[in-house]
Amino acid sequence: MKKIVSFALCLTLLTGCTGQLCRWGEPKNMSKVNMIPRPLYAERSEGQFRISLATQIIVDSPGPDALHIANMLAERFLTAAGLTLKVKRTADNGSRADAIVFRIDPEATNLGSEGYTLTITQERITISALKPNGLFYGMQSLLQLLPAEIYAGEKMSQPVDWVVPCVQINDRPRYSWRGMHLDVCRHFYPPDFIKKYIDYLAMHKMNVFHWHLTEDQGWRIEIKRYPKLTEIGAWRADRPGVTWNECAPQQPGEPCTYGGFYTQDEVKEIIQYAKERFITVVPEIEMPGHSRAALAAYPELSCTGGPFTVVTGGYWPITDIYCAGKDTTFKFLENVLAEVVELFPGEFIHIGGDEANKANWEKCPHCQQRIKDEGLKDEHELQSYFIRRIEKFLNAKGKRLIGWDEILEGGLAPNATVMSWRGTEGGIAAAKAHHDVVMSPTSHCYFDYYQGDPAYEPEAIGGYLPLHKVYSFEPTPSELNEEEQKYVLGAQGNVWTEYIPTPADVEYMALPRMCALAEVVWTSKELKNYDDFEFRMGKQYLRLDAMGANYREPDLRGFRRHNVFMDKIKIELDTPIPEGKIHYTLDGSDPTASSSLYQKPIVLTESAELKVCVVLPNGRAMKVQKAVFEKQSPQPAAEVMVSQPGLQFHYMPLDSQITTVTAIGGLEASQRGTVSGFQFPDMEYPEYFGLRFAGFIKVPETGVYTFAIQSNDGSRLYIGRQLIVDNDGLHGPVTRSGQIALKKGLHPIRLDYFQGGANKKLTVFYEPPGEKRQEIPTDILFSQNGVS
Ligand code: ACM
Ligand code: ZN
Repeated sequence: MKKIVSFALCLTLLTGCTGQLCRWGEPKNMSKVNMIPRPLYAERSEGQFRISLATQIIVDSPGPDALHIANMLAERFLTAAGLTLKVKRTADNGSRADAIVFRIDPEATNLGSEGYTLTITQERITISALKPNGLFYGMQSLLQLLPAEIYAGEKMSQPVDWVVPCVQINDRPRYSWRGMHLDVCRHFYPPDFIKKYIDYLAMHKMNVFHWHLTEDQGWRIEIKRYPKLTEIGAWRADRPGVTWNECAPQQPGEPCTYGGFYTQDEVKEIIQYAKERFITVVPEIEMPGHSRAALAAYPELSCTGGPFTVVTGGYWPITDIYCAGKDTTFKFLENVLAEVVELFPGEFIHIGGDEANKANWEKCPHCQQRIKDEGLKDEHELQSYFIRRIEKFLNAKGKRLIGWDEILEGGLAPNATVMSWRGTEGGIAAAKAHHDVVMSPTSHCYFDYYQGDPAYEPEAIGGYLPLHKVYSFEPTPSELNEEEQKYVLGAQGNVWTEYIPTPADVEYMALPRMCALAEVVWTSKELKNYDDFEFRMGKQYLRLDAMGANYREPDLRGFRRHNVFMDKIKIELDTPIPEGKIHYTLDGSDPTASSSLYQKPIVLTESAELKVCVVLPNGRAMKVQKAVFEKQSPQPAAEVMVSQPGLQFHYMPLDSQITTVTAIGGLEASQRGTVSGFQFPDMEYPEYFGLRFAGFIKVPETGVYTFAIQSNDGSRLYIGRQLIVDNDGLHGPVTRSGQIALKKGLHPIRLDYFQGGANKKLTVFYEPPGEKRQEIPTDILFSQNGVS
């Protein structure tokens, strides 16, 4: 608790923002154990249990699963601790000491099929569950109670005390679909990485791996009956280092060298690996769109007959799709699915269904004939016909069809499950129609979006989805009544990989956002608490580190990259990893474990560049974070008379998209006027436009002021001629801030903004010295008549 209080203090000092203090203050309902996802009930008691060579693992349960789980635990101890623990199947009378007992309890129906209890006393550990799934999750919880080193891939060189605290945990999940998706088509990852990805799911008690196997840019699963799918469809012309949307198509005669696929033997091995971790693999075979790789191999399945190449990068609109008029298309898909159904034991087969452009269907005589023969209204109903026909085939094979929410268009197939991605509306509509639903909206579940300020992140597809936003996701919409809510099976995080070329990049984008989603889908709504989660993440980062994961490292708390002060500044530093040590330099060199250790606030009286890195207990130095501290004399106030409240605006409609706010610089305004503050003047807006706000801000006292803009898309804020906040670029609702020292009084203020498509957003904040962040109040904004 002491540690947490200090988080809050240092944040205040570093950012000058008491407003955020509550975010890192002591959470109200703190978890009693450091575990992710947070369990339903956990209580600690005095004492601990020490695991040693004398500890036995006892399996009091028939069947292979419990024994297998016990062996997995033993293997973990052998690998990470060098401890060989004996595993023995025997009846347990509850009194055996120095034992870790796995027990199936047929009476424990209250735990459901995935729940468990974990009881740790000073004498023994007991994991009890109705089903093996619960034993597996109990084991995951036990691992999280151990030192993080238990996750290591090799024996620790330093001695580690393998102790766990005495606890009682009673736990079961909130949702039955706790999923993570991976697109292995835009980029291919080897089977060993798929297993590693499954390990990440398993440690987070997730239970669905949605394996996106076919795409325009690659077909990744061996289908014996159609060898060209992988001989041709799995390979494309390589475009190393070229931005996704700028990749030139394959040229005539150009070899296809980039790609790969999973043989059926590899697929079986991965499914088995997942099964042992109680994870169902849901394969996705895309139709009718996202199928160019298949059409490159079998062009006769398209409307036009091709020829086609496997797409090398971005592809939009997706017009080359399977022909819905030809029976040969359905024969082909049914033959493919017949092999897929044989391979994948789970009940669901994902058939995609998203983003298929119907332009070719509109022109194709086969498709038009089908519309006529089947009495369909239009191409949307033709897609619906397509999906229904495939559903019938899958149902006859004992499988259930799931597809993206476009499968609602033209009418939902009778038994289909909907994966809602374009918001939650599709899911709501499906649940109201009594269809099962998995929520995976872009807003909270697309882990290909940026997770921090795009200026400091690897290039991503766009969007903005920081960790706390994932955590805030509520999969069950309030629009559904109690009965309808039962159709929400759960939620899923999606990792589309256009901008994610390597396994390490996948880890960076998926972690730690997967940790937040795991808690969304496992933990009961009442127990969710972001402050508590963030505190527990401190340990989770160490676990991920022990696993060698390339997770996105957390930023220092409240760390601002550009800071202003007047006389002196006291800098307090804090890391979200309590066991990390902060090292720093002030001479421009990159810090290492031998640089100055941060022990007390750093006081600066002159401008300086501060570089910081956190060194973990395992000795690894994390990323270097850099901040500039600039000493300023306060800007004198302007000697002007202001004659009216509010700001003047210039509005500039645009014919085409721009990507930087500097492009509105020389444009003529089509409309001018006055607004009370930084808000969109009331009018109809086109897709693209620019806005400039100008006037004066009257600051109440001399001091350092922080300004921040949240905008979608780009914006810049100037005080006088100085650029204070640079939030330029085509991006989602990113917030950026900047500081300036100002004398009490009036100062010229200007904000340029542009809207480059999709959603518009603009909120402007400021923090007077020692005060909270707040929207700039309109009563301190003024303009001069006729001046703008
Ligand atoms: C999707 O993101 N196109 C489902
Ligand atoms: Zn057609």
